[in-house]
Amino acid sequence: MKIILLGPPGAGKGTQAKRLEEARGLIQLSTGDMLRAAVKAGTPVGLKAKAVMAEGKLVSDEIVIDIIRDRIQQPDCIKGFILDGFPRTVPQAEALDKMLGEFGWKLDSVIEMVVDEAVMVERVAGRFTCAKCGQGYHDSFKKPAKDGVCDVCGGTEFIRREDDRAETMQKRLAEFHAQTAPILPYYKSKGILRHVDGMAAIDDVTRQIEAILAE
Ligand code: AP5
Ligand code: MG
Repeated sequence: MKIILLGPPGAGKGTQAKRLEEARGLIQLSTGDMLRAAVKAGTPVGLKAKAVMAEGKLVSDEIVIDIIRDRIQQPDCIKGFILDGFPRTVPQAEALDKMLGEFGWKLDSVIEMVVDEAVMVERVAGRFTCAKCGQGYHDSFKKPAKDGVCDVCGGTEFIRREDDRAETMQKRLAEFHAQTAPILPYYKSKGILRHVDGMAAIDDVTRQIEAILAE
């Protein structure tokens, strides 16, 4: 199964992708996570992406298309995958179609997570993840069961993203409208665009996604 989770920053793409990974054995392919890893490792891609990401702008199509092309050819992707944060521009969507075609694959669903953007700034500002296993949490909506200890791996160090500051988040939302929203009609015309209410509780959003995938 090959799925795209599409939605503005903070919509819950990463949260739901992780759940699908656990429940269905699909692989989460988050270009944001891959780019952050490249920045941390100081690779040539990371060096190019660092300032762009800190500003809340989009990294070049060429870079992310190359990353995805390499990644989907790895053996674990045979099980199926969830694209989280890719494609984000019309050229990326077209490049994805082309590469899926090369492998004889097709997309099952593109799931748009519909949210009230005014609330998204608060959502990302409260977000933090376990430094060890990457499990995501939130100051108000999803705290670890024991304060300061990761529910999944017991880790005690947590990280917050540099681009989650309110000002940068506004720029990321603007980029979503300018560059990513235009790909919605592209998938609508292919008849594979579906919607979930991303403002519902996390468990409820998971149920809505599962209902779509079960069809
Ligand atoms: P990326 O890492 O993809 O970030 P994003 O799209 O801005 O999305 P987020 O990760 O912020 O939000 P999310 O939807 O995953 O929400 P989450 O589940 O964490 O991209 C970062 C940067 O990398 C980009 O700005 C760009 O520079 C670059 N980049 C990446 N891909 C690119 C591409 N393809 N092309 C070019 N550049 C690219 O949830 C948010 C918070 O809310 C969490 O704390 C969570 O616990 C909570 N939450 C989740 N769901 C709910 C709910 N239903 N109710 C209450 N709280 C919830
Ligand atoms: Mg994410």
